[in-house]
Amino acid sequence: MNAISKPELSDIDPDDIGHNTTSNPSFEQIVEARLSRRSLFKAGVGTATTAVFGGMALSACGGGGGSEPAPPPAPPAGINLSFNPVAKSLADVVAVPAGYTASVLYRLGDPIAGGVPAYANDGTDAADTYAQRGGDHFDGMHYFGLNATGQYDGNSSTRGLLVMNHEAITPAFLHPTGQTIVGGVRTVADEVLKEFYVHGVSVLEVNRSGAGAWSYNQTSTFNRRIHTLTETELSGPARGAPALVTKFSPNGTRTRGTVNNCAHGYTPWHTYLACEENWAGYFRRVTATDNPNRSAKEIASFTRYGVQGTGRELWATVTPDTADNLYGRWNAERLGTSTDGSDDFRNGPFTYGWCVEIDPLNPTSTPKKRTGMGRKAQEGAWLGPVVAGQPLVWYMGDDSQNEYLYKYVSTANWDPADATRGLAAGDKYLDSGKLFVARFNEDGSGTWLELAFGTNNITAAYAPYAFTNQADVLINARLAADAAGATRMDRPEWAGVNPANGEVYLTLTNNSSRTLDNTNAANPRFYDNTRTNGTVTRGNPNGHIIRLAEGTGGNTATAFRWDVYLFGSRANAPAASNISQLTANNDFSSPDGLWFSNATPGLLWLQTDDGAYTDVTNCMMLAAVPGRVGDGGARTVTNTNTAVTPNTTKTQATFVGAAPTEATLKRFLVGPKECEITGITESPDGTAIFVNIQHPGESTTPNFGTKTYGSYWPYGSDATVSASTDVEANRRRPRSATIVITKNGGGKVAV
Ligand code: FEO
Ligand code: CA
Ligand code: CA
Ligand code: CA
Repeated sequence: MNAISKPELSDIDPDDIGHNTTSNPSFEQIVEARLSRRSLFKAGVGTATTAVFGGMALSACGGGGGSEPAPPPAPPAGINLSFNPVAKSLADVVAVPAGYTASVLYRLGDPIAGGVPAYANDGTDAADTYAQRGGDHFDGMHYFGLNATGQYDGNSSTRGLLVMNHEAITPAFLHPTGQTIVGGVRTVADEVLKEFYVHGVSVLEVNRSGAGAWSYNQTSTFNRRIHTLTETELSGPARGAPALVTKFSPNGTRTRGTVNNCAHGYTPWHTYLACEENWAGYFRRVTATDNPNRSAKEIASFTRYGVQGTGRELWATVTPDTADNLYGRWNAERLGTSTDGSDDFRNGPFTYGWCVEIDPLNPTSTPKKRTGMGRKAQEGAWLGPVVAGQPLVWYMGDDSQNEYLYKYVSTANWDPADATRGLAAGDKYLDSGKLFVARFNEDGSGTWLELAFGTNNITAAYAPYAFTNQADVLINARLAADAAGATRMDRPEWAGVNPANGEVYLTLTNNSSRTLDNTNAANPRFYDNTRTNGTVTRGNPNGHIIRLAEGTGGNTATAFRWDVYLFGSRANAPAASNISQLTANNDFSSPDGLWFSNATPGLLWLQTDDGAYTDVTNCMMLAAVPGRVGDGGARTVTNTNTAVTPNTTKTQATFVGAAPTEATLKRFLVGPKECEITGITESPDGTAIFVNIQHPGESTTPNFGTKTYGSYWPYGSDATVSASTDVEANRRRPRSATIVITKNGGGKVAV
């Protein structure tokens, strides 16, 4: 057979492509924001913070702000980053500080049930065995402690369930010689079936031995894979909406599977939220043939979410299809004759893009897609402070260029008695609530705009998309957020809530579409990222981290203050762009994972998914002890476009936190070649952290004859591959994996 590989090994992430053509925010909205900030200020934002806020606002209003020297940050008492920083590296290893041990725990293909053979890792493992093997591209992850009888125990650091996402695949390594594609068609159905299984979620029991080593229990009855074939329920306000009708579920209440689960969330009732990020790319919808059969509203929605193309893995091309449309359901074109979509999968894309709630403690439970939280390229959902008698809050990033930050606030107030009710508690708190989107005003204030039908311009009269009801708003949350006037951000990835003070942090990983003319206060930089070979990328290639302090009402507030906590940069970049004054020991680019420890409140972990600094270093993880919103001040950033002669320069007013020091931001880990570091959780006692190494070796086209791959992790390192005569042991296909990191001799990690 003539097997050719499609060019799956690309440096371009699907989320690098923006589908937001709005020009939010408008000038009118900024003026309106200044007015609303005044009323906010008058009402008081909390006595402890008003003075700082007032100072920021006065600087901004008094002529754009000056370059105020930032006071040194005061780390919360008791947090001392007690390790020596790890150097940047291009080596094919996981590097951690001296005195720490990193061990591989769970890899792509590892069996998670009795009788499943060990992974051959040469493309020959049978497709159906992948339903009980580790998936690919490990991502967001959470640890749920278990007691001896298998009940949830939030204090158990010897037995627990690791629940983790498998975002996507590196297809080249899954099959004998990559995907078999003939004339644009997947001709080996089993290859596609395997790909269906390696996406999704793992639930895995892990145990610590008396000596402190962690391992997973291959035969645990808790072990489970949820993947693109797993039946899921559509729950919440959009359940049964006409847009969710498919041949699989003519009443629009179910769909099959979950895909591109990137980051995650968890709930106070001990369930897991697997969030669907770049689902749009998996569907086949050729606009030239399908658009003539579609309404203007459908086309507006598909365009806004990027549902167009042949499908990134060409899943819909397999013939013949099965009776239950395993392959054909990835074809989102209007093919049937029904008026409601009950005879095809024209509405398939509307059943993806949700937060998917999974109860890891109940292995037979059906996952539920929580439509109340809105549909987007869902990076993750991060829980705010849990207070009895108060609503529950989740913060959610939509990761594409120029997308938004969202917040969900439950209608019900938290009752600790619901902590043992599993998905029934989810029905209570996640199916009824308010959805908001963030506007970051130019004066350092911010507004949560409610996405409710009939408010904030979200009406049938909205010209780009005539909304019909609240289900329509939730299914098309991006369009509703456009209408409301949200702020276009530099790709919102992970968020996290500092348990020390309730402040919300959000990584903005990078944005190549940022220009000298379209910066705003919250996305203030346009600069050169100059590689060591002299090539330059522009926009915001290194990303930044913004944070916000909620106003009156705490995490349910509708107003907030914000500043930029940290700007990614090369240490040797000019001061104009290395605003956070990063050094060789803490410089980084493209922050993505962001996670606050619970065992050590105030300790923050940052992880990178980078393509801009990769001439110098592989992706990494840093530990940080952040200060608080307002610990810096107003700043004017000077941006320069060197692509034109003469160079053009513009200033942008913004608000910047106190610069970190090497005591408050330090590199802890550097990963192997061509990987992303993403996903982190801990044992409740903080003595073990679990970290995911995603897609080592993904960028280099493999040569299977010579066994030449972009990475050999977790097998050989550069040194062992070149020195050893044992080729089989070292030159094996790289695998995504979870590692566990402990301090030699015990004790909390990093402090
Ligand atoms: Fe899958 Fe936005 O990272
Ligand atoms: Ca991510
Ligand atoms: Ca990313
Ligand atoms: Ca990724």
